[in-house]
Amino acid sequence: MPPLSTSSASLLRACSRQQLPALRTALSSQQQQRRTRASATNTTATTSSFDSPFGQSKESQSTLKIPSFKKYASKSGENSNKVFSYFMAGSMGLVTAVGAKATVQDFLVNMSASADVLAQAKVEIALGAIPEGKNVIIKWRGKPVFIRHRTASEIKEAEDAKWEALRDPQPDSDRVKNPEWLVMLGVCTHLGCVPIGEAGDYGGWFCPCHGSHYDISGRIRKGPAPLNLEIPQYSFPTEESLLIG
Ligand code: FES
Repeated sequence: MPPLSTSSASLLRACSRQQLPALRTALSSQQQQRRTRASATNTTATTSSFDSPFGQSKESQSTLKIPSFKKYASKSGENSNKVFSYFMAGSMGLVTAVGAKATVQDFLVNMSASADVLAQAKVEIALGAIPEGKNVIIKWRGKPVFIRHRTASEIKEAEDAKWEALRDPQPDSDRVKNPEWLVMLGVCTHLGCVPIGEAGDYGGWFCPCHGSHYDISGRIRKGPAPLNLEIPQYSFPTEESLLIG
């Protein structure tokens, strides 16, 4: 009796021999199908075509073809576009000018003096509080201001003086708006000391620093000072008030 392994091998060989024709038939069928598919593919490749988006003309074959913008062109004519352009340019110019003006104006307002500084720039004095023949000294913009309520005799003395021969010739009428009220900066015109009132050789003001004498109109009469005492800007808003500045 042959061994078991030999019997199995014989059995396998027998099965293979029996199924071989069927396998060969199946393989040849598959090869036939592949050939048919390849043939169909070749036929399609030879008959297919490519539709170019640029057409077939000579011009369209150029890579430098310029597209047409006709469909974006205005249909309402050339002048309507000009009017619109001018309007826009004018409007933008106007807006820019208004903006620039506002900017410059804001800048100037920012740089100008504030309200409290402006308030200090002007000083109002009630004249009723200053008796005749008396001096008052107030501070205005950091400087002393002399206010003299002159008497009738002082006014006459100031007006009668021979002002043409003075060092700084000036009539009394040029130094006062109302003869009763003499308003001057209290700063000596020599080197800036503050003169003393109701003193000196002329009954006006005397500067002790170097000995300058001013008369009752504030004119320099004696000493080193070259000029009369300065008259500030002032006005009389009412009969009883004085506004300096
Ligand atoms: S400063 Fe007044 S006389 Fe010199």
